[in-house]
Parts: sequence; structure tokens; C-alpha cells
Amino acid sequence: MRVEYNEKENIFQLDTKTTSYLIGIADHKYIGHIYYGKKLADRRGIGALLRTEEPPYVPSQNLREKCSFMDTFPMEYPAWGVGDYRESCLMVRTEEGHRACEPVYAGYRIFDGKPQLDGLPSTFPTEENEAKTLEIVCTDACIGLKVLLRYSVFEDSDAVIRSVTLINEGDKTLYIEKVLSACLDMDNEDFELLTLSGSWARERHMTSCPVTCGKHGVSSVRGESSHQEHPFMALTAPGTTQDYGAVYAMHFVYSGNFMAMAEAGQFDSVRMVMGIHPEGFEWVLMPGASFVAPEVVCVYSDEGLGKMSRTFHDLYREHLIRSPYLHKNRPILINNWEATYFDFNTEKLVDIAREAKKAGIEMLVMDDGWFGHRNSDDSSLGDWIVNEEKLPGGLKALVDRVKSEGLMFGLWMEPEMISPDSKLYRAHPDWALHIPGRTGTLSRCQYVLDLSRPEVVDYVYERIATILRSADIDYVKWDMNRQLSDVGSLGFPSGQQGEIFHRYVLGVYALQERLISEFPRLLLENCSGGGARFDPGMLYYSPQIWCSDDTDAIERLAIQEGTALLYPLCCMGAHVSDCPNHTVGRMTPFATRGHVALAGTFGYELDITKISESDREQIKEQTLMYHKYHPLVREGDYYRIASWQHNHLYDCWEVVSSNRREVLLTYVQVLAQANFKSRKLRLKGLDPNGLYRLEENGALYSGQVLMSAGFLVKRSFGDFVSHLFHFEQVEA
Ligand code: GLA
Repeated sequence: MRVEYNEKENIFQLDTKTTSYLIGIADHKYIGHIYYGKKLADRRGIGALLRTEEPPYVPSQNLREKCSFMDTFPMEYPAWGVGDYRESCLMVRTEEGHRACEPVYAGYRIFDGKPQLDGLPSTFPTEENEAKTLEIVCTDACIGLKVLLRYSVFEDSDAVIRSVTLINEGDKTLYIEKVLSACLDMDNEDFELLTLSGSWARERHMTSCPVTCGKHGVSSVRGESSHQEHPFMALTAPGTTQDYGAVYAMHFVYSGNFMAMAEAGQFDSVRMVMGIHPEGFEWVLMPGASFVAPEVVCVYSDEGLGKMSRTFHDLYREHLIRSPYLHKNRPILINNWEATYFDFNTEKLVDIAREAKKAGIEMLVMDDGWFGHRNSDDSSLGDWIVNEEKLPGGLKALVDRVKSEGLMFGLWMEPEMISPDSKLYRAHPDWALHIPGRTGTLSRCQYVLDLSRPEVVDYVYERIATILRSADIDYVKWDMNRQLSDVGSLGFPSGQQGEIFHRYVLGVYALQERLISEFPRLLLENCSGGGARFDPGMLYYSPQIWCSDDTDAIERLAIQEGTALLYPLCCMGAHVSDCPNHTVGRMTPFATRGHVALAGTFGYELDITKISESDREQIKEQTLMYHKYHPLVREGDYYRIASWQHNHLYDCWEVVSSNRREVLLTYVQVLAQANFKSRKLRLKGLDPNGLYRLEENGALYSGQVLMSAGFLVKRSFGDFVSHLFHFEQVEA
């Protein structure tokens, strides 16, 4: 890790373990992107890449063509309105109504550590000397705006973390119409664009397309990161695979509206930007006030997507997730949603708990329907009072009974919502986000609470905390089952309505921060109609997030492959459910469902009192399997071996312990093939000089053979058949 500035060259250099990021100051004013790539021990000659010695030259030499300069220079942080016509990061309106802005270089600071971002999730060093930060100061004297561009690197990571702070140093109000958090302006090398997209129950499928001329992007204006698109974008060199090729990736540590855009321009350059979506956004920056934009994690890999994934995984495990559960086995849970939906009572839950305990399950989670008069999804959100018709004696009585069966207890809540049919709505209709005079748009028969208002945040917090204080609750599944619409708040004047989307997200963060501060041992799992708010922002508060409402083992292969592209397996909520699967109707073997869920947090989502005896017996084996392998799955390095999305036949991934002594390989034969022998797979990340023993039959393989020559997986009969292979290094 190194961050330095060379005054003679006017170059900043940030080094991570294997990468370098170089920024140059041209004409003492313009902050330009020089290089991001493999680590440079010797940078002599690199300054020329800013191309300031080529026409149109810098403005001090050729003022008459300043516009050409602005429109070609590789800007580190482009602003709108003074001649750079490519996608900008910054647009600020003045009281006079003008929008041009030109922040120019004014100085820098380099310091140990990494400042936390006020009210926002952010990556952090455990010790100050684990990180270094470069802060480049820019100013636009004309409008009194100061811009701080921050870049942080960690001793043990290959990521560069960027954030932006705007400060109004003038005496007039400024209106921020757009403030993105990062930009990467490079020559286009026939890049392809990799993104994650999908839908409800089909989240985070990997998609790629060529970066042809013009703008290509993903975004959300749904108030959350969304099922549909993900705040991630990568440019990949042609032919990039899991193991080869250059990858430039950005991932946004934020849970609300976002945009990520790659623009291929007229001079064969490509500019990639990421930040809060400007649509519906405007922030009023009073004199003296500042605005902190959320951070973007940038990762460069010269060894394909696999190294990129492992860089994100390690960063998030070491410097983002804060839970005491991070390095612990999570209790194996059984959730009653797919078992009972809204139709349950204390006796039913205790029956499930009793049977679950026999099979080695460790926690019962009571899902939706335990409060108000909620027997379907059309009422009671906001009325967090236990329904004593279902749970006589209240929550504590139920929790105590479940605990006496020997299980921990977890609870579902949806704190951000309000049903029109609720006591809360009747008392405070103005607490729902709405626009006066307009009938609000219902979704799942509910409105969204106005969490931009501190009094609503306080009220909601007290409701959640009262419940958690009332009984011994170990886990909360925090759900959010609709996206935002009619975003108006009675808490703010007309001039500040553009702040509500962002203030809402800040309200969610404030709530979860308070929750984990008061209940530090609580295991929090975020969820949003499945995986619509699976993002690094939420990971800062909860060590795991429900991946998708689709629990079908085969559909999950693509969802979990896309999710694991960025997130460590230990944070992917994954459960075994009953068949035919409730979402897609598919029948899959119980063992396959277990192997696929093992790649995540692991748990069950079925009525254990109703399934077959043989399935119940398999749960006993699977809970043992979880305890045996989860530490490796949780802490190990992830390698993607094959993707069903590409080959249409089989899926395969591997986890290797950091000392390379233990390996777990999961293989799923999705479709059976006729007239076919065994399949050869090459393992990755092993010790080439090591000798590995396969647990199931004691066979010995050299690391070299497994990686270079391959390992044979026998053909199975039938579709959807899976196999788990566990290897351990033995002394030769
Ligand atoms: C969402 C969640 C489900 C379940 C239901 C309850 O859809 O993703 O797991 O909790 O809400 O209403």
C-alpha cells in the first residue's frame, strides 16, 4: 500500500497489493486519469499518457480551443456545462439558475486511515495504519464550491475506494442536481460491459454486451438497488474469462437510486461513471453546508473475473461487514413462510420447532403474519402488536416455548411499510410517502413510510426495539416488500422534495445502525421481496441478505453465481425448500437442494412436520454437513469452475481454504446427457506441490494433476443431480 504525490511530475500514485492508480494534474488545474492497472514499480514515461503534448494542448497554451481540451481530456471528476459533453459527474445550479461548474485543482492531503462517511455505510480499516487516503481538493471559485475527491487503499486489499464531498464555501445557496461518486476515463480497448440484472425471483443474472458508440448503463429509480439491476458495472477486455483478461469494476456502497454508465466517445475513449441517480434528485446546499456522496469500490483485475470476485469478497469480509456473526457458523434456521404462509399459530410453530430440533436445526424464524390482524398481505403493516388469536399469551410465551424446545428464535418484520388498513395509517396518514392531492400508488396493498422524517424514524425504531426488548429474540429478518413511488414528504418544504429519495435511504441506515447498536448480538438478515436490496450498503448493517424468493435449486444456480460474482458466500441467504418448488413447480432431489443452499447461509423453508420421512432423515445429514463444511465455505476463496448459464449442462464451483489445505467442490448436473462418460474438471487455487485426499474414497491426487490435468466427475443418471467433493491435503 502506498499513496504519494510527486510535485515535479504532478502525479499522484496509489498502489494496492498488485495494482496502481495514477492521477495527473495538467496545467496546474485539470485533474486527469493517467492509469489504472497492474502495479507499476517504475512509472517513468507515463506522464505522456495524459496527451497534453498533443493538440488541442492545455488551455494555457491554446485557450482558443479550450472546449476541445475539455471534451477530450480524461477527467477524474467531470463537471457539466463548460465544454465536456460526455457523461458528467457533477451538475450544480446556482441561485441565478446557471448550471455550469468547473472544479479545478486546489491542493491535496495524504493521511493514514480512512474517514467514515457520516450517516452512510462505508468500508473501514480496523487499525488506522491498515489504510491510506488521498484527498484531492478542487474548487470552483465562481460559485464558491469546494469538492473533495477521496481515494483510499487498504494494506491487504486490491481495491481503490472513492467518495466525493461537496462543500458550499460561498454565501449563496447551491442546488446539487447531480453528484456521482466515481469516474474512470480510459481508452477503449474493445471493452465489453458486464452487469447484473433480472427481476423478482430472478435477481442478479450476469449479462454482457459490447461497448459500442454511445451510452450504456444500468440504473434504479425504484428507491432501492432493485431486483431489476444492480449497482455494479465492469468493463472487460475481449475474451476475458474467470482466469484471464483485464477487468475494471465498480460497485456502489449504497441502497437507493443509482446509475452506472459507460460511454464510448468520439475519440475511442470510454468513460465509466457511478453514483446516485440524478433523476428525481436535488440537494439544497446552504452556505457552509456539505454533502457526502456514497462510496464506490473500484477493482482492477489482470486475472479475469475470478480475481475480481475474490478481491470484492475479501474486502467485504475484512472491511465492510461488522456483525459478530461474520466469522461464526450462523444458526441453521427453519422459516415458516413457505411452510404455512399466513396460516399458523403457536401450536403449529412449536410442532415445527420440535421436529426441527430432532433434525439438527437450531433456530425457528416466524415470518409474516404474527401481528395486527394480518391474515393476508392486505393489512396491518405498521401495527407491530402481536396477534393473540394466533399467538395466545403473546410473543414472549411463544419465544419461551420455542426456546424450551432447544431452538433459538427469529422474527420477520417489515418496518419501513404501512398498510392503509392499519391503526397507524388511521392515526398518521401523513406518515406515508405521498403527494398531496394525488391518490398514492399501492403495491402489495401497502405504502412506504416517510423515513426522511426523523419523528417517523424515531417512532419506527421504538416499535421495533419494544418488541425486541419484550422477548429473547436472536434474529430479525428485515423485509421491504415494495419499491418507492409518489415520493413526496410533508416533513420538508417544496424546495427540498428532491432530497426525499436520499433522505429515505439515510433513514433506513439510521434505523439499522440504532438497532445493531442497542442489540449488538442480534443476527440481522436483510431482505426485500427476496433480493431487491442486496447491496454493499445493507451488508454494512447485516452480515447476510436473503438472496431471492426463488428457492428452486436450479434457478438459484444463476442467481447465486451472479451474487457470488461480488459477494462472499457467507452473506447469501439460501434455504432448502419443499417440492414441487412454490415458485417454478420444479422437482429436484433433496440432496441437490442441500448442496446449493450450502453455498450460502443455509437453512430450511418448509413444513418439516409434513415432508416425507426420508426427507426428514436427509435433513439430519445435511445439518451435519453444514457444520462440517460451513467454516470453509464462509472463510475460503471462491473459484467458479463452470457455469450452467454458458454450457447449458452443468454448474460447478469450488471453495479453497486460504492455506490451500482444504477444498470443497460442488458439481450440479443440470441436464443429463445420453452416451456420455465422465466429465473432466480442472480445479483452481490449489497447492501444485500438495497431495490431496478425496474424503469419500481416500483416493490421492497431486495438486498439479487436479489443476492442470483434471478430476473426473462420473456421469449421473437423471437431471438436477449434484455431488460434493471434499479434499484435504495430506503429507506426501
Ligand atoms: C417477502 C420475502 C419472503 C417472505 C414474504 C412475507 O416476499 O422475501 O421471504 O418473508 O415477504 O410476506
